[in-house]
Amino acid sequence: MEQNILRLTSPSTDVVLRTQPYAEILYWGEPLSHFSVEDIQTLTRAVPNGRLDVDTPVTLAAESGRGLFGSPGIEGHRAGKDWSPVFSTLRVEQSGNQVIIISEDNIAGLRLTHELNLDNSGVLQLRNTLTNLKPGNYWLDRLALTLPVPEQAGEVMAFHGRWLREFQPHRVSLQHGSYQQENRRGRTSHEYFPAFITGKTGFCEQQGEVWGLHLGWSGNHRLRADVKTDGRRLMQAEALYLPGEIQLAEGESLATPWLYASHSAQGLNGMSQKFHRFVREHLLHFPQPKPRPVHLNTWEGIYFDHDPQYIISMARQAAELGVERFIIDDGWFRGRHHDRAALGDWYLDEQKYPNGLTPVIQQVKALGMEFGIWVEPEMISPDSDLYRAHPDWLLALPGYQQPAGRYQYVLDLQNPAVFDYLLARMDWLLGEQEIDYVKWDMNREIVQPGHQGHPALTGQTQALYRLFDTLRQHHPNVEFESCASGGGRIDYEILKRTHRFWTSDNNDALERQQIQRGMSYFFPPEVMGAHIGGKFSHTTSRQHSIAFRGLTALFGHMGVELDPVKESPEEQQGFARYIALHKQLRPLLHSGDVVRVDSHDPAMLIHGVVSPQQDKAVFMVSQLAMPTWSLPGQFRVPGLQSAAHYRVSLLDAPDLITLQQGGHAMKILPAWIKQPMVVSGEWLQRAGLALPVLDPESAILIEFKKV
Ligand code: GLA
Repeated sequence: MEQNILRLTSPSTDVVLRTQPYAEILYWGEPLSHFSVEDIQTLTRAVPNGRLDVDTPVTLAAESGRGLFGSPGIEGHRAGKDWSPVFSTLRVEQSGNQVIIISEDNIAGLRLTHELNLDNSGVLQLRNTLTNLKPGNYWLDRLALTLPVPEQAGEVMAFHGRWLREFQPHRVSLQHGSYQQENRRGRTSHEYFPAFITGKTGFCEQQGEVWGLHLGWSGNHRLRADVKTDGRRLMQAEALYLPGEIQLAEGESLATPWLYASHSAQGLNGMSQKFHRFVREHLLHFPQPKPRPVHLNTWEGIYFDHDPQYIISMARQAAELGVERFIIDDGWFRGRHHDRAALGDWYLDEQKYPNGLTPVIQQVKALGMEFGIWVEPEMISPDSDLYRAHPDWLLALPGYQQPAGRYQYVLDLQNPAVFDYLLARMDWLLGEQEIDYVKWDMNREIVQPGHQGHPALTGQTQALYRLFDTLRQHHPNVEFESCASGGGRIDYEILKRTHRFWTSDNNDALERQQIQRGMSYFFPPEVMGAHIGGKFSHTTSRQHSIAFRGLTALFGHMGVELDPVKESPEEQQGFARYIALHKQLRPLLHSGDVVRVDSHDPAMLIHGVVSPQQDKAVFMVSQLAMPTWSLPGQFRVPGLQSAAHYRVSLLDAPDLITLQQGGHAMKILPAWIKQPMVVSGEWLQRAGLALPVLDPESAILIEFKKV
């Protein structure tokens, strides 16, 4: 192969790159079985009249100095000079599917290093690093990652959200101009998850070509997709820096966060399956390879009201239901009786726990469960001993009165005294108590993040990673959950340090159906915290049957979030039933391929998991609202082997179906429900299964098992 053309290859994706005289992606798509380097000549572009006299590439640096009239990959200066760098490749290092391209601009005195790695899963990882080679500070305003996509990418799908309503997809057409999203909330944010997808117009779950991106970063970000007047399209992603935040002294470097990119010619499912495989193989590091334990979290059960004797009775009840990990939430530490005090005082509240935590932990363990605890280390309440002793420990700008959020402020993690204090308190908690699991919360957005008067959000985010990394080293057997008022800090960089996300504070099953579907584009079920809440949702006041709540929580890392002591026998039976069902299915749910089905009825969601060997699958059909049509149609089951035969069985359904009656919805049930059937995979895929008529806010679970 010619020296300057590189091909990265995996079973599902290929990338072809030019490395000289500049770095440029020539191809990112399906694997090429017959590629020869001469073929790239076909891509040599015309130079149209009325424009610059030379061809202008979209390089990995996206330099405007090469005539790219768009958002450049680097914006910065040296007191007003060296502001439009153009890089030439110096050196290329390749080892298998990993490439490092080192380029320099010796006028501006800058080195730019591109790292690319195509994983076996098909996920392409990219990172850029800028180094200042000259004396004097280089003030860096922006450092972005740029990926070209073909002209066919006519549509963008991205995610918006808010507290209690995370991961809501929206679509915009990409014909002219730009799509741009910015998160300035100081954490990954509920508002804009740092990801988007471009695709051939009309792409859907099961069809169409798509190119998806996720920026693994827990701070502010900017993502954009642009169409230039020449019709070319590019996607760009970057951490967003505050004015003057990044200065590089001579010899200093700054790296972008890692960008993760997944291409699929088979719709969004193909993209997600690659992302999931990648997460499973590379980002998730569980201390022990064991099934994900079913949780009980006390928050919606008792809130701040901690009485150890009562908590022990909750634990007993939880163990009977089949719970495997018992977590005490907010309210255990000194002075924490409500959400307006005590954050920062990470000492046990001895009035609530006069005999310490040990009796509770011992009971929980004697019942065969793991023990978990809630913390929110980055925060400080103005009404706390910590604040009274160290009012200067805030992440703030001196002289300004910044707004509180949930009555609390953020600590400046770049202050070594703060870092050491938090490390010491967490070391005490995890070292002195037998804690298996930590729910790490972060309940406010960040305003004016100042460290010694300078903007400090990037440093704050990196210090948080350092704090996690140090704690993980000190306590390698402890698992961590990333929570930020629910889904405010869900991304791949925090996932390298954690094992589960609290998806949303909203346990309303109807809302959860959409939130979890949104999250499933990038995350596999085993990291998606999904709890059965009480019958009346605490966040919406809606009421749902235990069946709908149970099935909705089934397709994640399951838990219950309530006071099991106070629940009725009927509810208890329900919790036990869905916990048992989850345990039965979790080997499949937590290892298989997630498949979202395109439904012709927007009021119906179909979602399933197929085993890698295609010998087992479960699908949930959820009716969210009143069915659009009186007949729900045929569910054509994707992912099965055509030649194999499958036993089709209804694993769970509302009473109107399980009692073999149609209730008010049907006079006659579909035949396969009355009489279990064995059917070929081909028939199930091509012709399908007639669905029953479902009430709004109910669901059924169907299993397919190869015979
Ligand atoms: C946040 C979390 C909740 C709960 C409370 C405790 O809102 O998302 O799950 O832990 O804090 O204060």
